[in-house]
Amino acid sequence: MTIETLDAGARAILTANDRGGYTVPNGRVYPFQWNWDSAFVALGFDTWDRDRAWKEVETLFNAQWDDGFLPHIVFWQDDPGYFPGPSVWATGKTPVTSGITQPPVAATVVRKLWDSAIAADADDAYRLRLESLFDKLIAWHRWFRDYRDPDGRGVVVAMHPWETGRDNSPEWDIPGEPIDISNVGEYVRRDTGHLDAKMRPTKLEYDRYLALVQYGVAQGWDHAKITAGNPFKVADIGMSMILLRANRDLLHLADYLGRDEEAAEIRAMIATAEAGIDWLWDEEKHSWCSRDLLTGRSSGFITSASFLSFYAGLADPAKDAAMLAHLHRIGSKVEYLMPSLDPEDPGFQMIRYWRGPVWAVVNYMIGTGLAEAGFDAEAARVRHDTLALMERNGFYEAYSPVDGSGSGGDDFSWTAAIWLAWR
Ligand code: DGY
Repeated sequence: MTIETLDAGARAILTANDRGGYTVPNGRVYPFQWNWDSAFVALGFDTWDRDRAWKEVETLFNAQWDDGFLPHIVFWQDDPGYFPGPSVWATGKTPVTSGITQPPVAATVVRKLWDSAIAADADDAYRLRLESLFDKLIAWHRWFRDYRDPDGRGVVVAMHPWETGRDNSPEWDIPGEPIDISNVGEYVRRDTGHLDAKMRPTKLEYDRYLALVQYGVAQGWDHAKITAGNPFKVADIGMSMILLRANRDLLHLADYLGRDEEAAEIRAMIATAEAGIDWLWDEEKHSWCSRDLLTGRSSGFITSASFLSFYAGLADPAKDAAMLAHLHRIGSKVEYLMPSLDPEDPGFQMIRYWRGPVWAVVNYMIGTGLAEAGFDAEAARVRHDTLALMERNGFYEAYSPVDGSGSGGDDFSWTAAIWLAWR
């Protein structure tokens, strides 16, 4: 297939999944607006329709709560094809939203959109829109500081596996054990009606997901109460690295806009994260790993999120060398980097969601970070593998790192967007 054909195919996916101001990840499996999906989708639109790119992010932030919280799903229109839908979340918000958040990639995306507007001499037309988004982005980042970092370490503590975006990563198995699933009740999953159950989380995992949603409902989605009493609290290596990076990009925008007070506040958030993130270094594994806040134990799992340290701008030569050694080892075991779980882990499964498959958006962040840190060969391999998967197999939700076969939904918006933004 030629580049032109692939470009046209990727644009056709975004156009077909466009619901007018927001884009669904996949019309059947995920028929609403998802938080970090939309941010990446904006990068795709920006390659041919700048206004539509900004609109995607603006629509998402139209669902922001008064306290700065930005939900992981916005249910702009109901759709019976997804479970758990708006009535299960019962957040009582307008528009109807879920009650948990997702990895904060939006500030980094908005900086990219802004840089692209400057490069095209279109910044005057977008300056007011940037100012308005800046206020919303900093409100969200403050929310993470105030509600998701109870010990003030500069990390992000996830209260639900869905918040991390890596829903069924084995990182959540042991921290998930205290979740009481005895009152979850009967429910009908819709995901396994659309997709092979072998590609999806298990029943036990779903029971835990729902028990945590029910816990949030019982707290009236009061995030202070949830942070205090939630039975699941994991300092997620992925969200922690992503927020650190996002704060660096937000600082760049603050400086550009002359927002000195906010810039000082963002600098303080960055300094706290830079000082505290070492808590997520696992000395035994020689890797960045998520850590259970309730027990203090490291997950010990090397996942694709472990490699986001480059994207976060953590220039630590010894730790970088250890992560590069893992990258080379893993790269010699699989055809396509970066599997979502270390292929030498006994729990590795090549097509099960976040227990093996390669995800284009994570690769995009890893590859970007490696390139910025000057690790050109590794950056080139990650990018090459990502694009090869799409060229050979189309725009799937994820891919087997072993044989490249598609996993999860097809015609997937964020994969198509990464093609357009990164090819
Ligand atoms: C799902 O329903 O599988 C989603 O990942 C939740 O965000």
